[in-house]
Amino acid sequence: MTVATERALCSLENYLELPDYTMDERIADARRELGRDCVVLGHHYQRDEVIRFADFTGDSYKLSKISAQAGGQYIVFCGVHFMAESADILARPGQQVILPDLNAGCSMADMAEIGQVEACWEQLQRLGVATEDSDGVTPLTYMNSTAAIKAFCGERGGLVCTSSNAAAAFRWAFKKTSKVLFLPDQHLGRNTAYAMGIPLSEMVVWDPYMLNGGVPADRLRNARVILWKGHCSVHQRFLPEHVDNVRARYPGIQVIVHPECRWEVCQKADQLGSTERLIKIIEDAPTGTMFAVGTEIHLVNRLKNRFAALGKKVITLDDSGCLCTTMFRISPQHLAWALENLVEGNVVNRIRVAEDVKYWARVALDRMLEIGKEAASIQHSQAVQRTA
Ligand code: 13P
Ligand code: SF4
Repeated sequence: MTVATERALCSLENYLELPDYTMDERIADARRELGRDCVVLGHHYQRDEVIRFADFTGDSYKLSKISAQAGGQYIVFCGVHFMAESADILARPGQQVILPDLNAGCSMADMAEIGQVEACWEQLQRLGVATEDSDGVTPLTYMNSTAAIKAFCGERGGLVCTSSNAAAAFRWAFKKTSKVLFLPDQHLGRNTAYAMGIPLSEMVVWDPYMLNGGVPADRLRNARVILWKGHCSVHQRFLPEHVDNVRARYPGIQVIVHPECRWEVCQKADQLGSTERLIKIIEDAPTGTMFAVGTEIHLVNRLKNRFAALGKKVITLDDSGCLCTTMFRISPQHLAWALENLVEGNVVNRIRVAEDVKYWARVALDRMLEIGKEAASIQHSQAVQRTA
């Protein structure tokens, strides 16, 4: 039995007892042995001890594009469950997607269950809101949702979006119908629609635990945007007073936040952006600029260290920290365990989306990838308007 076999046959529990630093060499060795058969993708919220082994890093949009083009038999996704599901939907025949810890979920994605979304649609149809014509509703889901909800949107003429192309997705949807149902993040939906000129009075929040979403029928009929009552518990912790506090303490500071933050926070910020865009904003800024960043703490700390040497100061918008505990679940031990098993030909923690769900989910994801280019220019012009 080879040393690698002995290790791979060790249960995950044995790996979890070992210190982080002992994993580096093992991960590097396994990567080398797997060669081009394996691509490791890392979301920006991953910890340093994990993301340093990624072949590609990015926001959800960039990673989905990369996974759609990735070669190799195995895609190891250091991120959360919905990202790995999307990679499986976009994978080529024969490719297998692995999530090193199956407990790495997303609390926001869990806030919209397919049964609830189907019930919502039925109620909207009964009220004459979700009609078949251009007066009807296009369902649009944030990437942070289950494959079943992506399929639901694909089958009903809708699509998927991420924080980097939400405005383009809304424009696409409004060309077809006068209303949009946005799942599951009310904040991204509200921030995007408002930036496009839709007033808050034309948006309603659908509560899946109440009949008709808890919204009077006439308000639903008049609304242009129906926002699902979901949120990111990590980003929702940022408050408008945090923006006021950093501005008072550091005059001239630039406040940049993820659009999963509350509308009140986004209104006070200088710029909004996906994780990839937040990084780009700091990269492009002149030396001496100071930033308060409203997003997950691992990314903020990495940016702080990276840009300190370049004379740019980066702090978190809220000192009490903003940790995504599910992203944090992917540890170097989980990564080593998954890779060493692959070296031995054992595929552990494979993410497989059921074939019947895959078809329509792929339609919705392909629609998103098609509008990708347009999105980049809209995002840019919004940023320019905000800073003007
Ligand atoms: P990005 O697509 O901006 O990386 O966001 C993903 C996410 O889950 C943010 O909470
Ligand atoms: Fe989900 Fe929020 Fe974590 Fe992003 S930061 S993965 S939305 S829980």
